[in-house]
Amino acid sequence: MTARFEPGRSLRGDYVPPPDKSISHRAALFGAMADEPVVVRNYLESRDTRSTLDALLTLGAAIDEETGGTLLVRGVGLHAPLEATGGLLDVGNSGTLMRLLPGWLAGQAGGVWTLDGDESIRRRPVDRVAEPLRAMGAGVDVRDGRFPPFTVRGAELEGISYELPVPSAQVKSCVLIAGMLADGSTTVIEAARSRDHTERMLRRARVPFTRVDASLRVSQVDELELDEIVVPGDPSSAAFLVAAATLVRGSHVVMGNVALNWTRTGFLRIAERMGAVILGDLEEPGTEADHEPVGELDVAAAPLEGTEVEPDEVPLAIDELTLVALLGAFADGETVVRGAEELRYKESNRIAAVVEGLRGLGADIEETADGFVVRGDGAPLPGGTIDSHGDHRMAMLGAVAGLASTNGVQVVGMDAASVSYPGFERDLRSLLA
Ligand code: S3P
Repeated sequence: MTARFEPGRSLRGDYVPPPDKSISHRAALFGAMADEPVVVRNYLESRDTRSTLDALLTLGAAIDEETGGTLLVRGVGLHAPLEATGGLLDVGNSGTLMRLLPGWLAGQAGGVWTLDGDESIRRRPVDRVAEPLRAMGAGVDVRDGRFPPFTVRGAELEGISYELPVPSAQVKSCVLIAGMLADGSTTVIEAARSRDHTERMLRRARVPFTRVDASLRVSQVDELELDEIVVPGDPSSAAFLVAAATLVRGSHVVMGNVALNWTRTGFLRIAERMGAVILGDLEEPGTEADHEPVGELDVAAAPLEGTEVEPDEVPLAIDELTLVALLGAFADGETVVRGAEELRYKESNRIAAVVEGLRGLGADIEETADGFVVRGDGAPLPGGTIDSHGDHRMAMLGAVAGLASTNGVQVVGMDAASVSYPGFERDLRSLLA
């Protein structure tokens, strides 16, 4: 599906982002691993989070869906025999499901499952979770040593100490989840901080878990103590509206119920450094908590300057780095992102996609091995056509670029947005004054 986004109107009014995708996946999964029923409020309705519910149903969890995003998840317990051994689990487009679920399956001795998904998921590496799960004792087969389909043969797991080779919240989460089922304790060492929703949920569920500097330690546990999880609004979805309100002259948007967990707000800090006007009670970097803070963001249009994004900021803004490129294209001066090679392994090769896409709209942007360099003179991009490459975040970026451009933007493959944000186009257009 192709959609056109024209300039000329500012964004004004109140906005509430859809529920957080990362926390929704985890809420449903933790609910399925619990013995007692768990109520999940404000669960995201999207293609990715639907894949998670379908997989958990196949494994034997019962899920009642009520209106307004409320789920009642009746789980099977951490160690219960799961159904559909030998079965195929379709993860669709979801990298998070592909990397987190095997952590649980690996600890189910005697069970065998194969995870597979769409064309995009088949290009995304899973060796990063295969390796630690094998070290813990699970049997794992992957295609060409690296890609899905991904077969997991459950076993009695042993705790390990594992240093993450890539800064990935998905890999960290997979090992921590497997660690709850493994004999003894399991340590994950992360050199750079990444989103910590799994850690917060472990604390909430009263799982023995500690963090000392870069070392995270989880011990074997019999059951999770959870009754209700409330999912806050998604800061990564809100980031598209933050970018639009920043770039489109005369805009002013007040955003409510946004997750302000500091491990997700790297983009807001980078945008502020560029000159964006964003008021909000962001969580203090370094905070350790057992809950997810939420709050309001007040965003108004402002002129921007180029900035440098360093590798340690990358995991805290990983899903928004393409938006940094977009802001950079409208900013005065040079914007450089380094240490972001991981972007090549997302729903699309996001370094290539954003460089090709923004260049097509008139930007001066170059690809580097681990990021990009974009130069602007503070003037809007002319516009043109951009291809989402089936990547939800590229589709939404194209829409924002259109509203901020001089001549408008045509987005090819706009329907990809429904992977994380089915109501995106409606929400964006409803703010146009
Ligand atoms: C996610 C972690 C990130 C992010 C993805 C969601 C998660 O991936 O890009 O959209 O929910 O843990 P990596 O941890 O692999 O970088």
